[in-house]
Amino acid sequence: MQVNIPLKKTVDNSYDITIDELSKHHFDTKVAIVTNPKVAGLHLGYLLSKISAKELYIITVPDGEEYKNQKSVDTILESLFNHRFNRKSLLIAFGGGVIGDMTGYVSSIYQRGIDFIQIPTTLLSQVDASVGGKTGMNNSYGKNLVGAFHQPRGVYIDPRFLSTLASREFGAGVAEIVKMAVTFNKEFFEFLESADLTTPSILQEAIKQAVQTKADVVSQDEKEHGIRAALNYGHTFGHVIESETKYKKYLHGEAVAIGMVMANDTSVKMGIMSEDEALRVKNLLEKYNLPVTYSISDVDSFYEAFFLDKKSSDSSITFILPVGLGDVKITDECERGLITDVLKRFGKN
Ligand SMILES: NC(=O)c1ccc[n+]([C@@H]2O[C@H](COP(=O)([O-])OP(=O)(O)OC[C@H]3O[C@@H](n4cnc5c(N)ncnc54)[C@H](O)[C@@H]3O)[C@@H](O)[C@H]2O)c1
Repeated sequence: MQVNIPLKKTVDNSYDITIDELSKHHFDTKVAIVTNPKVAGLHLGYLLSKISAKELYIITVPDGEEYKNQKSVDTILESLFNHRFNRKSLLIAFGGGVIGDMTGYVSSIYQRGIDFIQIPTTLLSQVDASVGGKTGMNNSYGKNLVGAFHQPRGVYIDPRFLSTLASREFGAGVAEIVKMAVTFNKEFFEFLESADLTTPSILQEAIKQAVQTKADVVSQDEKEHGIRAALNYGHTFGHVIESETKYKKYLHGEAVAIGMVMANDTSVKMGIMSEDEALRVKNLLEKYNLPVTYSISDVDSFYEAFFLDKKSSDSSITFILPVGLGDVKITDECERGLITDVLKRFGKN
């Protein structure tokens, strides 16, 4: 015997991403702003001058990637239960990617899913993490291994928050901007080469183009069955660098910058990117003081660590390799010898 549940349906998860000074919003429902003490200290006053609600609560969790965990998720959940949030209530993620990912995750599980809004405050979260609905947290097995796809109801990007960002954090965001340009948009890459992102109007244009690029990719492949994986360019190498340096030496975006240079070297060796193109990417990263070299102490253990990557399987590793500028190839057919050759020479020429 068989019973069929007809569940074929079209879901419209579309939403707008506004890049501008935050306008005033009133919500006729219970709202919780989830943030951390640092962001709250710097910008909560401004946010509260713009956001009002029938009932408004502030939930803070400790600052840092090490707190993107179950304990912080429980803190947020408990507060929602205590304040009797219901399925019409709304969460607002107010902070960098850590706050955004966790708030999104909680909103995906609280009473099986409620709405949330992203108000990202770092460059990395404005151009990347707040867009596309990947939510999650870390656990002892690794980063972002628990989570859900849950799209926000809207994203409000106000570049004014970036005025208080530390310069290394700014650079980490630039790395993700460069990532979007190299993989998908040659014109955008050329714009970045001639631009000075420390000029506010130019930065706003770059944020818009990065977000547009990511939005186009996500709308083609929301759940990363194909092309969205290209946004992991630089990450396969970068994750190993982060893990080898115990997440202490480099910010994520900095490790990705080195990883992009490694991926480019691989593309050059495969003949799908010219040396000149690879040099242009390196120069652009260096312009924002991003690291582009790394000393590999043991090439074989570096290679073995690729297998821990989420995109890899037991027997193959997925590499995201640029094809010139503005195009990309996702492949799990790179020979071990080719990669270790690139790694052996890395930083030595
Ligand atoms: N969901 C996605 O698609 C996606 C994509 C990329 C990265 N991520 C996740 O994003 C996280 C990294 O995000 P991040 O780089 O924003 O890190 P983060 O959230 O830790 O923020 C970096 C630091 O900047 C501080 N900060 C935030 N806004 C500030 C401001 N306006 N002024 C001064 N300081 C400010 C934060 O408190 C923190 O100390 C990682 O956990 C990563 O996994 C998610």
